[in-house]
Amino acid sequence: MTTPSLNRIRVWDLPTRLFHWSLAASFFIAFFTAESERWRDVHVISGYTVGGLLAFRLLWGFVGNRHARFAEFWPTPEKLLRYLKSLFGRHPEHYLGHNPAGAVAILLLLGLGLLTVASGWLTYEEIGGELFEEVHETLGDGMMALVVIHIAGVIASSRLHGENLVRAMISGWKRCPPDENSAG
Ligand code: HEM
Ligand code: HEM
Repeated sequence: MTTPSLNRIRVWDLPTRLFHWSLAASFFIAFFTAESERWRDVHVISGYTVGGLLAFRLLWGFVGNRHARFAEFWPTPEKLLRYLKSLFGRHPEHYLGHNPAGAVAILLLLGLGLLTVASGWLTYEEIGGELFEEVHETLGDGMMALVVIHIAGVIASSRLHGENLVRAMISGWKRCPPDENSAG
């Protein structure tokens, strides 16, 4: 039996990949410097970096390459339900870009990220007293919880489809059978 040849497909453009790994790095720096007064400047700078990166991604979601566009991976309830159902069947749907469940986590991360940065700014400027301090801490912790879910989803999806999603987010390329019934 011959192994079908795999097509190499460019999925993630360079700006999306640079955005992703810079976001991951600046988020972790901001999170792990959050508690200490000594590291406050680093916390604020990395936090603003997260904000700048998210602003870029919002723009890129409209003008970036095919798989970077929100319109391409927007998770409508129908798409999401069909995908989740297919996970229990024999042929789980495969997406070249973000699958609908991953897309939900990604959009929540973008939204929560912006709120975290905005509440961080209010805290730093001492606007609103302890209220925004509490809100900021809760949002920051919530973001970390979502990041853990995001990474678990990436691992689960990589195993399910026998592909290395982390490598694809580094190189930009995926390998797929030419006849694959890809949903996206
Ligand atoms: C070391 C930890 C991380 C790994 C291994 C990782 C891995 C990945 C992978 C493989 C994808 C592509 C998923 C797909 O194929 O659909 C992705 C997308 C994404 N990840 Fe992560 N991630 C990490 C940390 C983070 C963090 C900390 C954040 C946010 C604070 C984040 C936010 C995102 C976003 C927003 C996307 C969508 C990319 C885009 O379309 O611009 N990730 N991640
Ligand atoms: C995504 C980016 C950010 C994350 C994940 C984050 C996360 C956090 C967390 C979890 C805390 C609570 C630490 C504790 O346990 O006491 C905190 C505190 C703080 N953050 Fe952020 N932050 C971010 C961005 C920012 C930004 C942009 C600013 C300022 C412009 C900022 C200013 C502060 C300040 C001043 C505190 C200390 C509040 C206090 O006195 O308790 N943060 N941050």
